[in-house]
Amino acid sequence: MSREVEKRSAAKVAAPVLTLDGPTASGKGTVAHRLAQALGFHVLDSGSLYRVLALAAEHHAVSLDNAPALQVLAAHLDVQFSGDAAGETRIVLEGEDVSKVLRTEACGRSASLVAALPDVRLALLDRQRAFREAPGLVADGRDMGTVVFPDACLKIFLTASVEERAQRRYRQLLDKGFDASLAALSDDIRARDERDTQRSVAPLRPADDAIVLDSTDMTADDVVRRIMELARHTPSLGRRLQA
Ligand code: CDP
Repeated sequence: MSREVEKRSAAKVAAPVLTLDGPTASGKGTVAHRLAQALGFHVLDSGSLYRVLALAAEHHAVSLDNAPALQVLAAHLDVQFSGDAAGETRIVLEGEDVSKVLRTEACGRSASLVAALPDVRLALLDRQRAFREAPGLVADGRDMGTVVFPDACLKIFLTASVEERAQRRYRQLLDKGFDASLAALSDDIRARDERDTQRSVAPLRPADDAIVLDSTDMTADDVVRRIMELARHTPSLGRRLQA
């Protein structure tokens, strides 16, 4: 192994990971970005990979239950993630900016269907692990602490009541200029919870060593403050914060 390759793989192994798992609309995305900013870390929004795959399936007329074709599509996804000036992530699929269409509820629903297929999850594993780069990573998803980064140094499982999550998603969609119905969102969140927790592979559950945070009565600022406090007491993160 060359010196350069050795140095790069050592940095990958050593890069600390903070995982943030939890059910749909629990506020993970907002919190993950703020934590990444505070720590100076990279961020992985793993849900967007499942969303991109659902969209690619639509573009290529692949049905959402065709596991072998979806696996091939997942292994060859032509997608780029980049930060824009406003700190938003820009996502380009096959040359087209799909950042906005990815956020629709329809896309989230399709993502949840493809995410239930074991071969699809396997095909996206290395792509997710490749986000682990120095100085560190905040990884947001369902199975970050259980499957993708089991050796993460701090694992948070963020949850909130269905009603509160429906309200949050409702406000978020209106802010982004989408139409939304609170009742339909609650039903959808319940269905998504059911599918995410009941699937056979990588079901949504806290890792044994995760800290569970119920954010029903907390603002995003409260959640970030609490996790930063935990980070200060986590050796590989605390050292960084004091530096
Ligand atoms: O939070 P929300 O469900 O709206 O969206 P997301 O985090 O972008 O994830 C979209 C879908 O992908 C979820 O409903 C999950 O079913 C699935 N997902 C997953 O299975 N594993 C992950 N690590 C991330 C997302």
